[in-house]
Amino acid sequence: MERGEVFVSGVRISYLKWKEFPIVYIHGSACDATIWKDQVEEIGGYALDLPNHGMSDKVEVSRIDDYAYFVAKFVEKKLKKAVLVGHSLGGAVIQKVYENYKEVVKALILIGTGARLRVLPDFLIGLKERPRETVKIFLKYAFSNEKIAEKFLDIFVERSFILLKDLILCDSFDLLDKYRSGEFRIEVPTLIIVGSEDKLTPVKYSQFFKNNIPSSKLVVIENASHMVMIEKPKEVNDAIKEFLRINFV
Ligand code: COA
Repeated sequence: MERGEVFVSGVRISYLKWKEFPIVYIHGSACDATIWKDQVEEIGGYALDLPNHGMSDKVEVSRIDDYAYFVAKFVEKKLKKAVLVGHSLGGAVIQKVYENYKEVVKALILIGTGARLRVLPDFLIGLKERPRETVKIFLKYAFSNEKIAEKFLDIFVERSFILLKDLILCDSFDLLDKYRSGEFRIEVPTLIIVGSEDKLTPVKYSQFFKNNIPSSKLVVIENASHMVMIEKPKEVNDAIKEFLRINFV
């Protein structure tokens, strides 16, 4: 895997890349490109560090749309058009890319995400007042495997400020009524993946996508929670490869 960077409006966007493949992966709250290691190594493509994450520059961000702008411009510069993969907050970002910059989207892969992402007030308050304790609880929700969760504890505690900022952005993200009314309609092939035990973005959020995106397929992965691509990389990769084979060969 190699590291590279692209400048969008003077802001450095850092990425991990393996093979010249038109897939762009967008991480979730307080994560970075490395969260997609298993996918990039096996399938190929570009995993971005969103601004304010990993090795990308810091910028003022007040809405999910701001992140969508950087992702859309990245795709335009590097690939013209790509399959966008988004996890959690990243899933909200790629829905906004589709809403605002359709021309750069070939297909969508929505992993552990939703059309609305309200956040438990206990997380928002707790991250300000008792970061370590709250991150511990958050990780219990995010992973079904406690041993893997433990590995992320110190990293997430260190990133508790950006976690809070990201969760505030998630909390304000809401396309639910636009899907319901038909004002927002995804018309590209869409793969939806969710862990059967996901407590942060429950299976019903993904079922909602399935019911409201005509050309979509839902894959529920057993014995996995929100961080499904880390807990079950083989199952996630197989679902992505099958989706790509059916739609793009
Ligand atoms: N897709 C489909 N339906 C959704 C949805 C989505 N993305 N988000 C909410 N809904 C539905 C809910 O299921 C609920 O339907 P119901 O009344 O039939 O049960 C309704 O819309 C209202 O839900 P919501 O807006 O979430 O408000 P709430 O007051 O019921 O719950 C929380 C608020 C925070 C408790 C709840 O959203 C939750 O538990 N969230 C998960 C935990 C979390 O913090 N996740 C972080 C995500 S990044």
